[in-house]
Amino acid sequence: MRVLFAAAECAPMVKVGGMGDVVGSLPPALKKLGHDVRLILPGYGMLWSCMEISEEPIFRANTMGSDFAIYETQHPLNGLPIYLVGHPVFDPERIYGGDDEDWRFTFFASAASEFSWNYWKPEVLHCHDWHTGMIPVWMHQDPEISTVFTIHNLKYQGPWRWKLDRMTWCPWYMHGDHTMAAAMLYADRVNAVSPTYAREICTPEYGENLDGLLNYISGKLRGILNGIDLEEWDPAKDQSIAANFSCDDLSGRSINKQSLQERMGLDVNPDTYLLGMVSRLVDQKGVDLVLQVVKRLLAYTDSQIVVLGTGDRSLESFLWQLATEHPGRFSVFLTYDDQLSRLIYAGSDAFLMPSRFEPCGISQLLAMRYGSVPIVRNVGGLVDTVTPHDPISQKGTGFCFDRFEPVDFYTALVRSWEAFRHRESWRALQLRAMNQTYSWDKSALDYERMYKDVCGVKEPSPDAAVVEKLSVGQEADPSLQGLNAV
Ligand code: GLC
Repeated sequence: MRVLFAAAECAPMVKVGGMGDVVGSLPPALKKLGHDVRLILPGYGMLWSCMEISEEPIFRANTMGSDFAIYETQHPLNGLPIYLVGHPVFDPERIYGGDDEDWRFTFFASAASEFSWNYWKPEVLHCHDWHTGMIPVWMHQDPEISTVFTIHNLKYQGPWRWKLDRMTWCPWYMHGDHTMAAAMLYADRVNAVSPTYAREICTPEYGENLDGLLNYISGKLRGILNGIDLEEWDPAKDQSIAANFSCDDLSGRSINKQSLQERMGLDVNPDTYLLGMVSRLVDQKGVDLVLQVVKRLLAYTDSQIVVLGTGDRSLESFLWQLATEHPGRFSVFLTYDDQLSRLIYAGSDAFLMPSRFEPCGISQLLAMRYGSVPIVRNVGGLVDTVTPHDPISQKGTGFCFDRFEPVDFYTALVRSWEAFRHRESWRALQLRAMNQTYSWDKSALDYERMYKDVCGVKEPSPDAAVVEKLSVGQEADPSLQGLNAV
């Protein structure tokens, strides 16, 4: 089957969050199943210095009143063909942000559509998050291209209808308030990145105002769990960590722990309970919950905590302040560092993921693979991947709590700290976590099934009257207010 992935990120070259990991590692797993999988990405400035790209474009066209050119390259790790949309709007060395964000991603979606119609026609066009949300709308009337839309994060919903109308050609049948809603309505299949998240987003609590629409399209909605690349993330072979280890011999873990403590400026002690967190520092990830319990945890237990990540300035500065107050025990690196993240997975005893919501979550899978026991909130993909530790029946792979409340999180932390004292049972827990295999092989089969299911199928147009009722309400266009007044 010919499959084209269209996305704003792809690991390891251009990655901000988990979506980049998925777009980097799902395609090669699909290729293993015999499919011709290719990718199309914006030709961001930083890609030109780190990849070998064709000098001459392979395709030129004009869309949204602007010329663009497509250049060809290959994924550095798996060799899959990648097409880059070359246009001055992508020249800056940034992925997101900027006043032109809506325009540049709508332009990307439009260029990717032109390319698929006129140069390499896929049977399935697999789109990811709001950046590519207009593609299913434009493809709706092409019987030869079916579309799949993956929701990695429902919170980010893209430009609104009035903006889209102004920037581009919105077909007369387009309904939906923004690109995320439009994609959900027009894609032939929609999937969320875990079965639990797929169910949760149909409820008002997690639906981000789109639960009505999601219920309406639930017949074509699926939940498919993300995987990880077991080759790339293998503590027995990883060159970035201080010592390799495996389920058969965990001794290398203590060397990693010592190295992590030294690197992060913590007191070096093999017996101290060391908690790690690698995360985008945003509301979704429950960083505020961590902030609320840290002082108490450090006062009543001998724990140490390390945090790695970047994000909201206020969360960053609260963390930084805490680190200043607790030298040797709480350390934070406000950066993104792949090597250091691997050392945290390999050297910490437990891993924090107290998310408000979590479409799938990848870090808990990496932590488990490296023997760091996850402490997670029972939400989204965390429910599907971490089971509660039960020392009596010797089952479970981590510590879980339900409510997004400091006291619930704190209780889970204390339970884990106590469990850490029982070395034998802790080791058994670590091994159970390490033996989980959330590889892409299984999930790729689920995607393949969905592609086969949808290939050659065009879902009918949504019922305009129903969509009207489900509409989340048009955001006011400030620049139109003057006109209205007239
Ligand atoms: C987003 C979600 C995360 C998910 C990832 C990849 O970053 O927040 O839960 O694992 O996308 O699908």
